[in-house]
Amino acid sequence: MKFGLNLNHHHMLTSRSVINSVSKLALRYFSSQFKLPELRNFKPATYETWNLEKIRKVHGKHLNPCLLTIYQNPPILVQGKMQYVWDEKGRQYLDLFGGIVTTSVGHCHDRLVKALTDQAGKLWHTSSLYVYDEIYRFTDKLLGKFPSQLNNVFFCNSGSEANEFAILLARLHTQSYEMISLRNCYHGCSPNTMALGGIGTWKYPIPGLPGFHHTTCPDPYQGRFGGSKCRDSLIQTTRDCDCPSGDNCQASDKYIQDLDQVLTTVVPKGRIAGFIVESILGVGGFVQFPSNYISKAYEKIKQQGGLFISDEVQTGFGRTGTHYWGFQAHGIVPDIVTMAKGIGNGFPLAAVVTSEEIASSMKKALFFNTFGGNPLACRIGSEVIDIIDDEKMQENSSIQGKKLLIGLGKLRDKYPDVIGDVRGKGLMIGIELVKDKETKKPIDPKGFASILEQFKDNGLLIGKGGPSGSVIRITPPMCLSAADVDVTLQIADHIFSTYRHVD
Ligand SMILES: Cc1ncc(COP(=O)(O)O)c(C=O)c1O
Repeated sequence: MKFGLNLNHHHMLTSRSVINSVSKLALRYFSSQFKLPELRNFKPATYETWNLEKIRKVHGKHLNPCLLTIYQNPPILVQGKMQYVWDEKGRQYLDLFGGIVTTSVGHCHDRLVKALTDQAGKLWHTSSLYVYDEIYRFTDKLLGKFPSQLNNVFFCNSGSEANEFAILLARLHTQSYEMISLRNCYHGCSPNTMALGGIGTWKYPIPGLPGFHHTTCPDPYQGRFGGSKCRDSLIQTTRDCDCPSGDNCQASDKYIQDLDQVLTTVVPKGRIAGFIVESILGVGGFVQFPSNYISKAYEKIKQQGGLFISDEVQTGFGRTGTHYWGFQAHGIVPDIVTMAKGIGNGFPLAAVVTSEEIASSMKKALFFNTFGGNPLACRIGSEVIDIIDDEKMQENSSIQGKKLLIGLGKLRDKYPDVIGDVRGKGLMIGIELVKDKETKKPIDPKGFASILEQFKDNGLLIGKGGPSGSVIRITPPMCLSAADVDVTLQIADHIFSTYRHVD
């Protein structure tokens, strides 16, 4: 059966965990000792759904076999409001993953529901061959969030499409073909973005596309170089650092030497189309690079005539707290910025922003996207930006993110043989789980699965990532409250205090 995780995992656990895990299997709705904060003036409804057995039949037999669900014993989610979701039995969960970094301003935010229903009653769709003002209003609003030279937008529906377009744009503009990305990165599941990607589990055994090259992921915790002063974060790795204090991070220089090698050995000199990077790796496990890596990589790429592409699909729209876009923390202005996920709070919407000069390279042919920038999508996109501003969600990301990060950092110090690293910025926080602190080998997958399951059974939905699937990813809607952070830390402390490694 493809549904969920292996139910036999409890054979591998210590006796105490076996009891926990067996009781979990038997008692799907066991009550947690922790109580989640309640939303004022909100009463969740109950909904009729198919039961799990019936769902499983369709899921296992008729749905795309790659659609794996994260839990062995999944709740059926029927309702969401702001940072919470409820299952079919009315049980509340704190959504700490936000539908994979997508629910940016909160589930069924009142203002978005109003904007959506209002627009749906007026005009859902017409082609961009016709004139309607929602696309111009949204363009104006979105570009207001960028430095003035980034003044041209292309709308589409997904992050993969946005990155496909960025590759095409970089190639057309530079008249060069070679693209460079990081090992460990993920930029989508379309043919070219799969080729950009650097994680083996997302690659099929078919011939790779020409023109894609990878450089070392500058990971200060697991990588060849790193230390305890590298990251632009409140929490550093526990790794020793030999760098002198100040800006002169040797780890970033060493990783840049790898990029230099790629530039001098595997691509034609001076003929690269572009370099694409996230300012904090998303699917790759929320790896934060040594502070100066991005600015130094930018210089190298520009020297060789390439375009610098910032993938803000996960890091954009204020999530990192200090800035609206991840690249802004690195003192650079990219040539192309791609965005999706949080831009629509769950509505299919994505965009590519670039300069007028670069955009004009597209004029050589016609290029069209049926749904990109349709009235409904643009109305929602505009409302999301207004909500982030009006409700100070970027500031909230910064405040709650700090509190959570510091609390989780303390848990890492308390449980060093399972929590190897805690990292991130704003409400984009990763917890890398290990077998032990010396080898830093990834936690056993069954151990990870049991931890994930326990978080869920205590009311917290968290995410998973990293090349070995050993990183907990926390990216809640940016309306997370201080009380949510408190209960998250209490539950995490409880789970890690009882966790024992698989023998
Ligand atoms: C950084 C990044 N870029 C691109 C994508 C692809 O986006 P989509 O799934 O909307 O195609 C993702 C999706 O997870 C992502 O995390």
